Amino acid sequence: MALRGFLLFLFWMPAGLLPDLTAQMQVERLDRGAVAVFQEQGCYLSWRLLAGEPLPKRTKYKLEPMKFFNLFKRLMPALLLIWMAAGCSDPVPDFTDGRMVESLNHGWKFVHDDPSGAEAVRFNDSDWRTLNVPHDWSIEGEFDRDNPTSRGGGYLPAGIGWYRKHFSVPKSAEDRKVWINFDGLMASSDVYINGEHLGHRPYGYVPISYELTPYLNYGKENVLAVRIDNTRQPASRWYTGAGIYRNVKLIVTEPLYVEKNGVFVTTPEVSPDQATVRVQTTVKNDGPDAEMVLKTTLVGPDGKKVAADSLTFSMAAGENHTFDQSVELNHPHLWSLATPTMYANETEIRVNGKPVDRLTTPFGIRSFYFDAATGFHLNGENIRLKGVCLHHDGGAAGAAVPLGVWEERLERLREVGINAIRLSHNPFATEFLDLCDRMGFFVMNETFDTWRAKKNHADFGYQHYFDEWWEADTRSVVLRDRNHPSVFIISVGNEIRDNLNKEQGFTTYKMQHDLIHELDGTRPVTMALFRPNQSGVYQNGFAEMMDVVGQNYRENELADASRDNPHWKVIGTENGHTRQAFLIWRDNPSIAGHFLWTGYDYLGEADWPEVSHDFGLFDRAGFTKPRTYERQSWWSDEPMVHIFRREHHLGQGGLVDDWTPTDFDTYDEAHLEIYTNCEEVEVFHNERSLGIQKRPSDASPVSYRLTFQPGTIKATGRINGREVAVHEMQTAGNPSAIRISASKTTLENDWNDVSIVRVQLVDENGIPSPNRDQVLTFEMEGDGELLGLDNGARDSHESFISNKRRTARGQAMAIVRAAAGSGNFKLKVSGDGLESNAIQLNIKSAENQK
Ligand code: GAL
Repeated sequence: MALRGFLLFLFWMPAGLLPDLTAQMQVERLDRGAVAVFQEQGCYLSWRLLAGEPLPKRTKYKLEPMKFFNLFKRLMPALLLIWMAAGCSDPVPDFTDGRMVESLNHGWKFVHDDPSGAEAVRFNDSDWRTLNVPHDWSIEGEFDRDNPTSRGGGYLPAGIGWYRKHFSVPKSAEDRKVWINFDGLMASSDVYINGEHLGHRPYGYVPISYELTPYLNYGKENVLAVRIDNTRQPASRWYTGAGIYRNVKLIVTEPLYVEKNGVFVTTPEVSPDQATVRVQTTVKNDGPDAEMVLKTTLVGPDGKKVAADSLTFSMAAGENHTFDQSVELNHPHLWSLATPTMYANETEIRVNGKPVDRLTTPFGIRSFYFDAATGFHLNGENIRLKGVCLHHDGGAAGAAVPLGVWEERLERLREVGINAIRLSHNPFATEFLDLCDRMGFFVMNETFDTWRAKKNHADFGYQHYFDEWWEADTRSVVLRDRNHPSVFIISVGNEIRDNLNKEQGFTTYKMQHDLIHELDGTRPVTMALFRPNQSGVYQNGFAEMMDVVGQNYRENELADASRDNPHWKVIGTENGHTRQAFLIWRDNPSIAGHFLWTGYDYLGEADWPEVSHDFGLFDRAGFTKPRTYERQSWWSDEPMVHIFRREHHLGQGGLVDDWTPTDFDTYDEAHLEIYTNCEEVEVFHNERSLGIQKRPSDASPVSYRLTFQPGTIKATGRINGREVAVHEMQTAGNPSAIRISASKTTLENDWNDVSIVRVQLVDENGIPSPNRDQVLTFEMEGDGELLGLDNGARDSHESFISNKRRTARGQAMAIVRAAAGSGNFKLKVSGDGLESNAIQLNIKSAENQK
């Protein structure tokens, strides 16, 4: 560090070019003859800027006149090399009034190892890899049957990893308060600042926050070091990922500030005409006595202020106080699935007329309740919950999932009719809940998969930590998530194996239930009960304690329990895809909803050579299955029809949706199963009608048998005699070309913004050709980044982080993102004997993003 300081002084001072990252200034483009120092990709000085290229969005910098440009230009490469070799130190911008929230995602050093002394400031990390977080080192590794994560972790690597981050905090922050927030560290983390141990946290799914104030070097460099230990395996029944896999933020406040998660917005009275919005704000004063003004302003969906309330208060030094304000809103825009309207609560605190804290809390206005006879009601309307469970991995993205991956997944789930998500069996990233708020999905939050009793294949699971950590972990999640309108219920456990016939089982449930009620009086508490008729929880008084009785599978037992206990509110917390389970959902309005296991296939919980679990409505890469359409025919309101056939002659084999048998010689009698929500279906084979059939009332598919001929098979769906849906398939020849489509073709230069690119092998007429898989090569041209490839196949051991992937049933997918602030890039896909193809994606420049 001293060396770098000296060199900077030597080279920059004479040139009058001392960099000053005072920030707050947004500039779109640099003119030639100006120098910028910026912190976009960690600590890095860019030649591109000197060439006058557009700057990435959100870059903060200050321009200085170019006095000795030629001298600087000559010295720049040497300076850059020396700087890079000595490590990076990101300055945090000068502190301005009030609160500052800075992303600390960029420019970390990482090693997948356990070097001793790596927490020390002077430790030399110069040969460690430089990367940005969120980062999951496990997904980057190779599948190996001997990896200790075994079936739970999808046979991907675990081990120990260290991350180090050099950053400087301005002198102006000296009398402020500084915190570091990790939204998740997987797992068993130890965090150090300047060599001081801040804390240990075993659970990888909860937000972790440490105060840095007393340990910082103000105006100088600081080093955060994070040790992450995943060695004790198997630790989980599903894939966890490994590392700093969620966002990291640095928070700076004045000594009088709103506490972390200190704003709680609720809507106790809601009607179409009027709503009461209650805002509780907890303020802490670590400074001297102060006369403060708290102003609470509600901002409507159009960005206009709709209500405000102010109060004054004398805050003694050291005091903390929760303020309670309520305002009435006329004609509120209610949050609902169809119109997920969000409001914002702006909190401002002033002392002596000067703003000392300011923050915004998004919220929605809605009311809901469960009724024992009729299930769930939102804003007075009875809604059947059509849910799926999701694990937290994003397939090829591993555990560090760009929001864009979830957005595409949720959109596709919605097409099937899904309106609710159960976060099984652990809290997700906070941004996932923001997305559900914005998109209009209900969320069942869930804290744990085990309490004290272990489960198979997770010898080192949460049971080792429950007693010490359940309270802190529950607290951190409930407080973080309580303003999200999407969250409608909290589950404290999945299929808990503790003895729920003993007093300890009762008290363990009750203490969690009571804590959640204390922190958030607006969400009912449930848990996913396991075989209740065997465990006795329906008879022994246990279920009586629950706000809503949740049960996994055995749907008929839940229906019986609801009938036998007419005062119970009940919900299926985890359900099978079978028609029998669906009929119980359909025919029992007292069951508020079902949550299918699962929405997407997930990594882990699989036996080698398989590496992922296949109970999803969609596979890991997002390709459809028969059950995708079957479920759509049951749960979607949009008219649909989809043809499947038994893969082999005479109804043998699985269901496939193509008209291209693997063996034309032996395939003769075709058995069709047609999923539809229309009243009737008519099938045509090579234009000839095979007759009209009514959709059966027992939700079974419409079936046809016919003699196969190459050509076309088509089904039309009708309601009231009018054709409202059609599905057609044609016999394909061998693949000769590649069809490419993308979930979006314009991207922002943002870590979260990705496009899901799908490729399909097609014959010379463009017909999908499913039976001749081959390895495709994906090449990026221009400023794009290939994040991962997948084909959804559970027994594929190809690395996700590669540019080659074999197709599965003629399909593969790629996740891509922009790697520059403007311009475009191309993803080219090629394969032996195939006409190659490419898709262009455009990058939305900062100017266009405004
Ligand atoms: C359930 C369990 C899930 C998953 C599933 C596998 O009983 O709650 O976590 O293991 O079985 O099909």
